[in-house]
Amino acid sequence: MQISDRVDQVSMTTVRSIDLVREDKTRKAYFAMVKFPPQQLYDMRQDILHKNEIEQLEDMSYRRRRHSFLLGRYAAKLALAKYFGESDLSSIEVKRGVFSQPIVCHFKGPAQIGISHADDHGAAVAFPEDHPMGIDIETIDLDRIGAINEWLSDTEQESIQCNETLKELGAFMLWSSKEAISKVLKTGLTTPFSVYEISKIDLESHSHEEQFRFVSHFKNFAQYKGITYVNRAEQYVLSFVIPKRTAFVLS
Ligand SMILES: CC(C)(COP(=O)(O)OP(=O)(O)OC[C@H]1O[C@@H](n2cnc3c(N)ncnc32)[C@H](O)[C@@H]1OP(=O)(O)O)[C@@H](O)C(=O)NCCC(=O)NCCS
Repeated sequence: MQISDRVDQVSMTTVRSIDLVREDKTRKAYFAMVKFPPQQLYDMRQDILHKNEIEQLEDMSYRRRRHSFLLGRYAAKLALAKYFGESDLSSIEVKRGVFSQPIVCHFKGPAQIGISHADDHGAAVAFPEDHPMGIDIETIDLDRIGAINEWLSDTEQESIQCNETLKELGAFMLWSSKEAISKVLKTGLTTPFSVYEISKIDLESHSHEEQFRFVSHFKNFAQYKGITYVNRAEQYVLSFVIPKRTAFVLS
């Protein structure tokens, strides 16, 4: 199964439901991913953003930041619209909390949202308040691999030697899992990096030549696990962090 449905060469949107299966019950979450060039997305801003978010956008001086904001908000609105059963994306507001964490405001709430962006991709997951989650997307940019490797512990370096995909792309996968858990905890990467150390990463399944799924475990946060997809065709890795005892079923 591919995470993203390519619609054309330059733009794509996809929304998928996620079953979060636990012993007591199954909860629903929604994942959305978008890929858009800047001008096309900017032209759609009135349909996507709440009026307060448009003010925020217009206050942003850098074009790159405006684009990442729009990518993240568009993915967030698609996921939340599905979660709430709401067709008007601009009726949903995503505010910024004191640690820059996203806060959902909508009369059909409550709900939580996780957001990430990388180059022309935006990704988001809408989920229930009683079930923490985090998300992160990273572009596979082999020029960055040396810099990321410097931040990996010896254990992490060893953990990515057991499989060809891990040897090549493990650094991005570990990095995105760490960013995702830092969003669950709302700290971001402001703590010592060792706090988010990953003790183990395993190949869980691969259902398509270019789509692998890995699961990682955190040394200091045993109640969580990371689920990471690798999409070589679109050149990204995508991680979700969820409670360890939850089975993650992406439809
Ligand atoms: C959180 C963090 C790891 C995200 O890294 P990034 O390179 O910006 O990467 P991503 O694109 O994957 O994620 C960005 C999104 O994460 C979310 N986010 C930011 N801070 C967050 C936090 N503390 N907790 C949860 N989510 C957060 C936001 O929705 C943001 O998108 P938006 O600004 O468009 O709304 C990084 O920003 C960080 O370490 N922040 C530290 C917290 C901080 O310093 N806050 C004060 C800033 S003024």
